[in-house]
Amino acid sequence: MNDFRDADKVWLDLNLATMSSAVGSDTSSGISSGMSSNMSPATYGIQQSMALAVKNGRISAIAPMAVVDEPLLPTAGIAGRGGWMTPGLIDCHTHLVFAGSRAEEFEQRLQGVPYAQIAREGGGILSTVRATRAASEQQLFDLAVPRLQALMREGVTTLEIKSGYGLTLKDELKMLRVARRLGDAFPVQVCTTLLGAHALPPEFSPEFASELSKDRDAYIDLVCQQMIPAAAEQKLADAVDVFCEGIGFSVAQCDRVFKAAQNHGLAIKGHTEQLSDLKGSQLAASYGALSVDHLEYLDASALQPLVENGTVAVLLPGAFYFLRETQRPPIQALRDAGIPMAIATDFNPGTSPLASLRLMMNMACTLFRLTPEEALAGVTCNAAQALGLSDDTGKLVVGAPADMLLWDIQHPSELAYQIGVPMLKQRIYQGVASDV
Ligand code: NIG
Ligand code: FE
Repeated sequence: MNDFRDADKVWLDLNLATMSSAVGSDTSSGISSGMSSNMSPATYGIQQSMALAVKNGRISAIAPMAVVDEPLLPTAGIAGRGGWMTPGLIDCHTHLVFAGSRAEEFEQRLQGVPYAQIAREGGGILSTVRATRAASEQQLFDLAVPRLQALMREGVTTLEIKSGYGLTLKDELKMLRVARRLGDAFPVQVCTTLLGAHALPPEFSPEFASELSKDRDAYIDLVCQQMIPAAAEQKLADAVDVFCEGIGFSVAQCDRVFKAAQNHGLAIKGHTEQLSDLKGSQLAASYGALSVDHLEYLDASALQPLVENGTVAVLLPGAFYFLRETQRPPIQALRDAGIPMAIATDFNPGTSPLASLRLMMNMACTLFRLTPEEALAGVTCNAAQALGLSDDTGKLVVGAPADMLLWDIQHPSELAYQIGVPMLKQRIYQGVASDV
């Protein structure tokens, strides 16, 4: 009871979806026979009729209402009552900082021009690169704010933001500084990722979209010898990412980027197997990657490196949907292998201009056949793992960061079910609540 009396804030009469014993939250088991952790009964780690206390930005106590002596609590300390509480949502893969629009490209694609062809012809990522290079740091910040606010209004308390639309040392660092500034300016945690190896910038190609590998290797030199050391030294990046793809970079080039990232103590992530099976996921996992992302073309029989290295599979149903892909990631094989699955918006102007993580939960269920419980694990505990955050992040457990959401719902399955109708009552970041 003292834990409650001494707390900074207390919430009463809660139903908790703690996610502490939920699907995919046990990543220690590796490949399991029979029922894997991903196939356990749908529990969400539910605890009903509970009280939760917060002190110094962390969850300090969780107890049944029956043992909390409410008259002894200071009234001013009671921050909320009733409803369902979940961990704050974590969007573990976004390209939130960019300038320009790709609406015309959307029209082109609807007329049948493939994404890869548009990229090869100098559109796609490179059109966003041109606009992003031309934008000032302040302009990029201002453009990113409404996107960030849209995510926060839905309950996002942590997100990852990648660079990758600058492709020069100066412009990549500019993007990362904007990402850091967003984290300083708003009540949200921002993890930053250097994605210098996103596309070959035009100045490295004598002919536009040349496939000459010597140009690509020269650009990879710049990524490894200048971008990674500078981003690490200036503490602008927490991780390094690559686009391992025919229209991106080869496995050998990604290998060089991962080595450089490792040498500078940065975590590793990869855009892998989005459009073809180059085995980038296995390479990234062999470097102990936090996550491999997209995975539509991942070979279901080659998951062992992911299991062995605790690499999270990040599913991006928005990009799958927006590109009107038909090949799905090997969900059942990932589930059977006990590989934690996270879900993210991949918010970007080309393949996923969709700033709604709850819509992604819905799409993960409807398009990829995840359960609503797997979808919630995918944007809480498993997304935390994909960002290398502490083991208790993304869960409602004592000691965890007090990033939490209070919902007006009957059951947590509703979070993946109903989209567009406001259900969030309170968003709590580091123990401080704001009404939504
Ligand atoms: O995650 N696949 C590469 N990168 C982004 C798309 C970037 C773009 O088209 O602007 C993605 O889908
Ligand atoms: Fe992406």
